[in-house]
Amino acid sequence: MLDIAQLERQILSDVERAQDESALEAVRIAALGKSGSVTALLKTLGALTPEERKRRGPLINGLKDRVNSALSARREAFKQAALQARLNTESIDVTLPVREAPFEIGRVHPITQVTDELTAIFADMGFAVAEGPDIETDDYNFTKLNFPEDHPARDMHDTFFFHPKPDGSRLLLRTHTSPVQVRTMLTQKPPIRVIIPGRTYRCDSDQTHTPMFHQVEGLVIDRKSHLGHLKWILQEFCKAFFEVDKVGMRFRPSFFPFTEPSLEVDIQCRRDKGDIRFGEGDDWLEILGCGMVHPNVLKNCGLDPDEFQGFAWGMGIDRIAMLKYGMSDLRAFFEADIRWLSHYGFRPLDFPTLAGGLSP
Ligand code: DAH
Repeated sequence: MLDIAQLERQILSDVERAQDESALEAVRIAALGKSGSVTALLKTLGALTPEERKRRGPLINGLKDRVNSALSARREAFKQAALQARLNTESIDVTLPVREAPFEIGRVHPITQVTDELTAIFADMGFAVAEGPDIETDDYNFTKLNFPEDHPARDMHDTFFFHPKPDGSRLLLRTHTSPVQVRTMLTQKPPIRVIIPGRTYRCDSDQTHTPMFHQVEGLVIDRKSHLGHLKWILQEFCKAFFEVDKVGMRFRPSFFPFTEPSLEVDIQCRRDKGDIRFGEGDDWLEILGCGMVHPNVLKNCGLDPDEFQGFAWGMGIDRIAMLKYGMSDLRAFFEADIRWLSHYGFRPLDFPTLAGGLSP
């Protein structure tokens, strides 16, 4: 019969010599498997006399336990070694220079930047953002806004019409963001305070006009808002947007079918060899149209003009973007020229906020 102590030395040294999990498993099977050496010893116990069993039983079971714990210890050592190897390969050298991620190369278009800037300013004054579709009905774009049928003001808009439907009605590409005033009044109860940034379309193209352009509409409806409030809002907006302490503004009488009275607003500026400065100088630049919402428009949208009143304005986003960031040709905005965009575009993580600063 094999000497137990000798067998133990043999197995433990095999355990020590096993270089990986599968070699260790082979050692386990050779000792504790069905026909393993320790298993064979255990099987001999049955044939022994009670006295002999009492003596050899603890010896053989002790052997089995020690073999088991040697196997576990070795297995644990392999696990630790594997973990350590992985940690070594996955370690990060924090002293390496930062690699440019894709978002560091991409640029935010000036229109998006300016839209974010003005949204931050008006949000701070308590305005929500409303939106409407680019494809609009004649009714919302014109009729409900108090444009009489066949009124010449409709022609002034150089509208892109779709083919008429069998019932004679025609859809169009909205010529301004004002139809979203209608949509807002039809679905929300006053008090209403919204701005409506979006795309607008007119059949027009030169250095300062493109067939698609952007506007931001403002609408305030409640029981007592008046032109004084409108003036204050526009002044505060211009100061915040152009980041100056004071802007000269000029309010001129004008005409829009959907406002009464109607005004156009210019801001004071000085042009210096292609450079524009705000808040000083003798030049004036038109930036928006505005007025008190016409009683007919309120009625058309289900509001009683004896109970409710308010004001609205419409401003060209592209125009104020050109002014603020010194871009002279509007057409370049929409040419998707990557060189133009990397020059005039904005870094994506520089979100405009009033606290952190609007423009980088
Ligand atoms: N919708 C006008 C346009 O595109 C701009 C405008 C003028 C909007 C006066 C308004 C407003 O809301 O009150 O020319």
